[in-house]
Amino acid sequence: MSVSILTADRVAPVPDAFGRPLRSLRISVTDRCNLRCQYCMPEEEYLWLERCEILSFEEITELAGVFASLGVDQFRLTGGEPLLRHGLDGLVRMLKAANRVRDLAVTTNGILLASSARVLREAGLDRVTVSLDTLQPERFRSLTRRNTHADVLRGITSAREAGFGRLKINTVVIRGFNDDELGALVRFGRDAGAEVRFIEYMDVGGAQRWSMNQVVTREEILARLEQQFGPIRPVEKASAEAVAAPADRFLLSDGTVFGIIASTTAPFCGSCDRARLTPDGMFLLCLYARAGVDLKAALRRGASHQELAATIADSWRARTDRGAEERKALGARGVLFQIADLRQDPHLEMHTRGG
Ligand code: GTP
Ligand code: 5AD
Ligand code: SF4
Repeated sequence: MSVSILTADRVAPVPDAFGRPLRSLRISVTDRCNLRCQYCMPEEEYLWLERCEILSFEEITELAGVFASLGVDQFRLTGGEPLLRHGLDGLVRMLKAANRVRDLAVTTNGILLASSARVLREAGLDRVTVSLDTLQPERFRSLTRRNTHADVLRGITSAREAGFGRLKINTVVIRGFNDDELGALVRFGRDAGAEVRFIEYMDVGGAQRWSMNQVVTREEILARLEQQFGPIRPVEKASAEAVAAPADRFLLSDGTVFGIIASTTAPFCGSCDRARLTPDGMFLLCLYARAGVDLKAALRRGASHQELAATIADSWRARTDRGAEERKALGARGVLFQIADLRQDPHLEMHTRGG
């Protein structure tokens, strides 16, 4: 392993085989979720990771420290539903204290946010993104099979009140389900002080009901919003980080900004700087990866910081993944993984590897 170059206060990130830097780590802290969204967890039963396999906060912090020493400075806690992990504010505190964690965010479904936003903020969490696919409680119930829409709305308000300024809302757009709510969601975001990002429905592991017919493309989303709000201008991407970010941002004439994540029709693999860690310590190089590197095994057999860093850096240097582009290149495509594969290996599930 060659040594990373130290700049004033930042380490030059490790480049992969295509020169894409390792800058961002998404840490899935649990595979459990308190919703059953049709686009992610449509089944009645799941195979869960064993409790003893799940990384402790100390183990997560140690691994995050290794990633940070390699130049990763953007961390995001995901799941499953990360707020189901008991005492998550403790992990936030440990990550902020121990590492060069410049930017620590959480992606949550918001259900438990009302009771935890303040403690998470006090613990040092920088940013929160809440998933909200509909403003209609009955639709929410049919999508998620849970009756907790009001809790999500309360969670968004509480996050604002707790001082999370750069709040984002993720909306997966599905034809025939919520594509008539695009304008209402933009207005909701504007009034709630949050930036709404519309996500093209993706054929990720777990999306067993996915079909291309249900994907509402970026162009269609823009055309529909233009009909309602008038001309829409793209927001220029001013930094390398903005270029690597999945969302393209747009501006309405009243100053409202919203985003579109066109992972299905316009993948951003070319600038993808993100790695994933599953709750049981699998290091994944791509959202679509079939397999990963078992960092938990290395950690639990006592590998040193240097050994872990070498394993991570070597894997990343060899990285040629561009899963979403490869899926797109297939042309006609169906679901990513068959149900039998998912049942055999829960790591293939979106709720395990993190959204
Ligand atoms: P910030 O730009 O820091 O706010 O983070 P983010 O936009 O990555 O955050 P978020 O977790 O909200 O991700 C938004 C959505 O983008 C996810 O829900 C996925 O649908 C999609 N997405 C996230 N990561 C990837 C990825 O690695 N590959 C692809 N193809 N899509 C992704
Ligand atoms: N397509 C697009 N986005 C998805 N997410 C989960 N499954 C899918 C899918 N099939 C997103 C959720 C959430 C994040 C954790 O992952 O909307 O914002
Ligand atoms: Fe990155 Fe893989 Fe997603 Fe492409 S599909 S953007 S390479 S994680």
